[in-house]
Amino acid sequence: MKHTDSYDRQAVGQVLAERGRLDGPLMPVLHGVQEALGHVPEQAVQQIAHALNLSRAEVHGVLTYYHHFRTEPAQGPVLQVCRAEACRSVGGEQLLQRARAAGGCEVEPVYCLGLCALAPAVMLEGQPYGRMSAQRLDDLLDDVGGPR
Ligand code: FES
Repeated sequence: MKHTDSYDRQAVGQVLAERGRLDGPLMPVLHGVQEALGHVPEQAVQQIAHALNLSRAEVHGVLTYYHHFRTEPAQGPVLQVCRAEACRSVGGEQLLQRARAAGGCEVEPVYCLGLCALAPAVMLEGQPYGRMSAQRLDDLLDDVGGPR
């Protein structure tokens, strides 16, 4: 059964309590909610908007503008693949295509993981990996059980 109107209001409230008074709080709050719940439920938009004195449209607009935020739980482990310049110039784009083709992970293109000196870089479930190669990527995906 799909839950369409339940989410962890308390966790969202905790993030709002911690970050709601920051200068320009919306992005830190959205990041915090995604860190806490793994995604930002659409149902939380109202709670966030109310707490930050914003319209639902404003919150929804930011939430959907940035690809980093997901409104549904990830389908499997999250693999972030950097496609910024340093990584792109040494095969990051091919790694992204390879990861997408492999399946088994939720592949998320990102722009710089702060590992430019170790390009190309990826992050799997929050764990960074530098100097990535096709073989190392395959090994990583094997480790998380992704079919190839
Ligand atoms: S450009 Fe890829 S980690 Fe910075």
